[in-house]
Amino acid sequence: MTRTQYYTAASLDGFIADPDNSLDWLFQFGDAEGTDYLEFIRDVGAIAMGSTTYQWVLEHHVRPPAGPAQPWPYTQPSWIFSSRSLPRLEGADLRFVQGDVAPVHEQMLATAGGQNIWVVGGGDLAGQFHDRGLLDDVIVTIAAVTLGAGAPLLPRRITSPPLRLLAVQAYGTAFAQLRYEVTR
Ligand SMILES: NC(=O)c1ccc[n+]([C@@H]2O[C@H](COP(=O)([O-])OP(=O)(O)OC[C@H]3O[C@@H](n4cnc5c(N)ncnc54)[C@H](OP(=O)(O)O)[C@@H]3O)[C@@H](O)[C@H]2O)c1
Repeated sequence: MTRTQYYTAASLDGFIADPDNSLDWLFQFGDAEGTDYLEFIRDVGAIAMGSTTYQWVLEHHVRPPAGPAQPWPYTQPSWIFSSRSLPRLEGADLRFVQGDVAPVHEQMLATAGGQNIWVVGGGDLAGQFHDRGLLDDVIVTIAAVTLGAGAPLLPRRITSPPLRLLAVQAYGTAFAQLRYEVTR
């Protein structure tokens, strides 16, 4: 059964990007090898992200300032939330949407073919899915750094009922992954 999952990496003090939208603090540890990312992405059938995240992927992965251009990194259909007209990409299944996440979630469910929905970020977009009762899991891989400021992990007050901790996993000396289920 499809689960809608906010899967992300964060600093110990709860930021997913620094104030300049940099992820250098994260990539100092190398790529995702050694974490469960490859296992996670195998079960993903649809992807959602906000425009800052989309532009980050374009600027740092697809058209990096140094090094060759690369294709869009996801084979799954990806829904990009923005109120603006953003650059399109040849060869990528991108669907630009705005407003209420609920009807978009319905489209994603229909497309995911029973696989999971990955809410890549940012934190407020994950919060919008939670606001509508559509978020099932929060899976955070905490890096052994603090940032002091930046893009918040999940800017919502979720206290009652609290999230339910399902699993804790260490990855070397850099990462601790916390897996929570949203209780309803
Ligand atoms: N650590 C990690 O693993 C990780 C994961 C994901 C992202 N990141 C990084 O974290 C940062 C997140 O940036 P962010 O906090 O700005 O979040 P974001 O979700 O990437 O972008 C937010 C923007 O998306 C658009 N948007 C969001 N919801 C919308 C809706 N319902 N309808 C229409 N537009 C909507 C709005 O911009 P417009 O309408 O103006 O376009 C909004 O300002 C980025 O730097 C990203 O690279 C890190």
